[in-house]
Amino acid sequence: MSNINYNFEQLKQQLHKNFTSGKTPKDAAYAEKRFTHTLGVVETAEKLAKIYGVDVEKARIAALLHDCAKFHKYNDFSRKHGIKLDEEILKYPKVIHSFLGVFVAKVEYGIEDVEILNAIKYHTTGKPDMTVLEKIVYLADAIEPGREEYEYLIEGRKLANEDLDKAVAFILERTIKYVKERKLELCYLTEDAYEWYRKK
Ligand SMILES: [Fe+2]
Ligand SMILES: [Fe+2]
Repeated sequence: MSNINYNFEQLKQQLHKNFTSGKTPKDAAYAEKRFTHTLGVVETAEKLAKIYGVDVEKARIAALLHDCAKFHKYNDFSRKHGIKLDEEILKYPKVIHSFLGVFVAKVEYGIEDVEILNAIKYHTTGKPDMTVLEKIVYLADAIEPGREEYEYLIEGRKLANEDLDKAVAFILERTIKYVKERKLELCYLTEDAYEWYRKK
């Protein structure tokens, strides 16, 4: 039994509408892809929640909404709702949607559950000492079935079923490698997370 009471199907329809409405056909096609990715994350998070004994419904909702801010413009949303993200986070464009996602999930989807909100918040960067739910959403985002078949994903998927911390360390390591190879800036949270999980 789940101790939360959100309507998954209703939230799913709402997310789909928010992703796709008011877009050009090309942008809508991209949004559909992101939606399919989201459903892959839900599927994977559900599987992992069952393995690791986490509230399955919470994992499904967190996974469903993990990218809910993907198409929001930070400046517009922040002005409209009077919220501000940490300057330190705003330096990393790819990370913003995760932190903004907390507010979007609250305001637009009525989510108040802190565990769900934190799983959305850290799904891109990870962080040290994550909850099981945070680890599950972080991993599910990286390894969901729709992700391209990189060689390392086979290993990542296998590890996720066996040892959550080792799987997190593995994906963090890959992410850091990817970011460095492309000479992008690595978010300090990812670095801290790797320091934490590599010793696990
Ligand atoms: Fe994301
Ligand atoms: Fe994602």
